[in-house]
Amino acid sequence: MTAPPVTPLVSLRSLTYAYRTRRRAETVLHGVDVDVAPGEFVTVVGPSGSGKSTLLHVLALLDRATSGTYRFDGRDVGALSDRERAALAREAVAVVFQAYHLLDDLTVAENVAEPLRYQKVPAAERTRRAAEVLARFGLDVKADRYPAELSGGQQQLVGVARALAGRPRLLLADEPTGNLHAAQGGAVVDALRELNERDGVTVLHVTHSERWAAAGGRVVELLDGRVVADSGT
Ligand SMILES: Nc1ncnc2c1ncn2[C@@H]1O[C@H](COP(=O)(O)OP(=O)(O)O)[C@@H](O)[C@H]1O
Ligand SMILES: [Mg+2]
Repeated sequence: MTAPPVTPLVSLRSLTYAYRTRRRAETVLHGVDVDVAPGEFVTVVGPSGSGKSTLLHVLALLDRATSGTYRFDGRDVGALSDRERAALAREAVAVVFQAYHLLDDLTVAENVAEPLRYQKVPAAERTRRAAEVLARFGLDVKADRYPAELSGGQQQLVGVARALAGRPRLLLADEPTGNLHAAQGGAVVDALRELNERDGVTVLHVTHSERWAAAGGRVVELLDGRVVADSGT
C-alpha cells in the first residue's frame, strides 16, 4: 500500500527573481525548483551573494517572484491579491533575521506579545503565550528586561520565541547565527530544531556556515541563484 501523496507546504517551480536598476537588469534566482514537505527542517547553504536572502524574501511573501510558481500548501501565491498575501504571511509565516529586529523600548515579553495583535489574539492570551514561549527557551527570567540588557544570543532567542508565539506553519531564518559566537549560535539552532521537532513547524534555515549544515537533515545548496545540490531529492 502506498501512502497518499502529501501536499508540500512549499512548492517552487521554475522560480525566477530579477531586479532592475537604472543601468541594468539582473537575474538573482534562475529557475529554482524546491518542494518542502510539512514538518521538514531544511538548511539552505551557499556563499554570500548566491541568492539565499532573495529566496527567503520570496518565501516570506515579502517579495514577489518575477516568474515561475510558488505554491503554499497548494495555493498559488502569485494569484493572490496583496491583501490576501499579507493575510497569509501574517497567519502562517514567521521570519527570524540576522539582526534580531527587537524593539528597544519594549520589554522582552512585550516584544514577543506585540506582533500577536496583528493576528487579533486577545490581550490576555498574548501575555500568556509570551510567557509560555519565553519559559521554553529559559528566558522567563528576562521577561521584564529590555533587549539592550541581553546578550546577542539571548536577543536572538527572543526573536525565535516571538516567531514561535505566532504559531507559524513556516519559519524562515536568515543567518540567525551570523552575529553570534559559536555557543550562542548553537543555542539558537537548537531552538529552531526544537520547535521543528516538538511543534511540527516547518523550518528553513539559511546560513553560509557549513557548520550548521553538518548538523543533519536536508541541505539545499544555492550557487549563483541556482540549486546545485539538494540532499532531499
Ligand atoms: N533589489 C536589488 N537591488 C540590487 N541588488 C540586488 C537586489 N536584490 C538582490 N540583489 C543582488 O542579488 C545577489 C544575491 O543577493 P542575496 O539574495 O542577498 O544573496 P545571499 O543572501 O546569498 O548573500 C547579490 O548580488 C545582491 O547584491
Ligand atoms: Mg543573505
